[in-house]
Amino acid sequence: MHQTLVLRNGRVVDPSQGIDRIDDVLVRDGLVVAIGPAETGTDETIDATGLIVAPGLVDMHVHLREPGREEDETIETGTRAALAGGFTSVACIPNTEPPIDTQATVEFIHQKAMRADTCNVFVVGCVSRNREGKELADIGQLVEAGAVAFSDDGAPVYDAELMRRALEYCGMFDKPILAHEEVLELSRGGVMNEGLVSLMLGLAGMPAAAEDVMIGRDTVLAESTGGRLHVMHVSTAGGVGLVRMAKARGVRVTAEACPHHFTLTDETLRGFDSNYKMSPPLRTAADVEAIIAGIVDGTIDCIATDHAPHSPEKKMLELDRAPFGIIGLETAVGLSVTRLVATGRISWPRLIEAMSTLPSRILGINRGTLRPGSVADITLIDPERSWQVDAKSFCSKSVNSPFDRWTLRGRAVATIVAGRVKYRLT
Ligand code: DOR
Repeated sequence: MHQTLVLRNGRVVDPSQGIDRIDDVLVRDGLVVAIGPAETGTDETIDATGLIVAPGLVDMHVHLREPGREEDETIETGTRAALAGGFTSVACIPNTEPPIDTQATVEFIHQKAMRADTCNVFVVGCVSRNREGKELADIGQLVEAGAVAFSDDGAPVYDAELMRRALEYCGMFDKPILAHEEVLELSRGGVMNEGLVSLMLGLAGMPAAAEDVMIGRDTVLAESTGGRLHVMHVSTAGGVGLVRMAKARGVRVTAEACPHHFTLTDETLRGFDSNYKMSPPLRTAADVEAIIAGIVDGTIDCIATDHAPHSPEKKMLELDRAPFGIIGLETAVGLSVTRLVATGRISWPRLIEAMSTLPSRILGINRGTLRPGSVADITLIDPERSWQVDAKSFCSKSVNSPFDRWTLRGRAVATIVAGRVKYRLT
């Protein structure tokens, strides 16, 4: 018995095929069958009139916290939050406890994800054993277990020689290194961007140079090794410029930006609220503008959340003791639509490219497309829906969002994974 689903009369936006038109999408047995007028009388029909029908969104930077920090998030709650945010796939970052640096841990994640039966979870493995930055993890074995990329995020790969070898070695498997770019001597002790605001508040700063110097180092190492570098959470104008220059030289570099970095500035720290504390930190209005310009011209390939749940007990500490990071899965679409599409800075196809096509391509996963025969991961977005953020009602186990009570435009209303409707906004 075939299982058929028709998404009728939506605006189908699929940058992987250059499609942007009103049409139907026919799904059968978990696969996309066709984009074109569908017959009536199928098993299940969703009226997508007025909605964007996009290849399922992919967030390539998500901290699911399991194993080890289940008080902040679990694979189950984090992937439910992903579905509610419109994501059909996430890549989970390995700064768990223990870190994801063995085949057994990768398998644990895959099993938990299978049991949760929510969205797809692609695993990022550690660059270094135990994330200690001393010796390479067993990259080959991790690839064999299914790791799609490598990262020591939360911290940079500090030793330049280790980074060089990691780029070389991961390059042999055509896997990217997702790099947290920070020179620790420059940022040590800092809680926010170094600048006028940190000076006035008397808070220790993290200068833009701490990020830029490391991006410079890593783009040079990517160039000399031919390895694949993906710069995570770019927050500075200088960083955008360095990535742009490296791309112009033909370096194999890609980059992501987070919604908070193109929405908020360091002025928000004036309230001493730790929900504005993350690494890299919120920067200045000029940096925000440079990041948006980078998204517009493609220097920044994609949008990723850096969803970083921390329980209220931890986040409620004083600013200098609270951990870095905010949640982002359930606000990413609203913030991106509100800040980038509704303002006319980017088109819908560019947004879908940044949230689905390109992260899939960077991770080398067979997602991010509605091409007939591909897995039917699909996100329906109401582009006009205005809604108020209520962090307490989120699926995420943590509530550390600076966007609570914000009114946003644009929201995922249905999330379909392999042809099954996994989330529907009621
Ligand atoms: O703000 C951040 N939080 N930045 C990171 O690099 C790590 C992350 C976390 O794991 O909480």
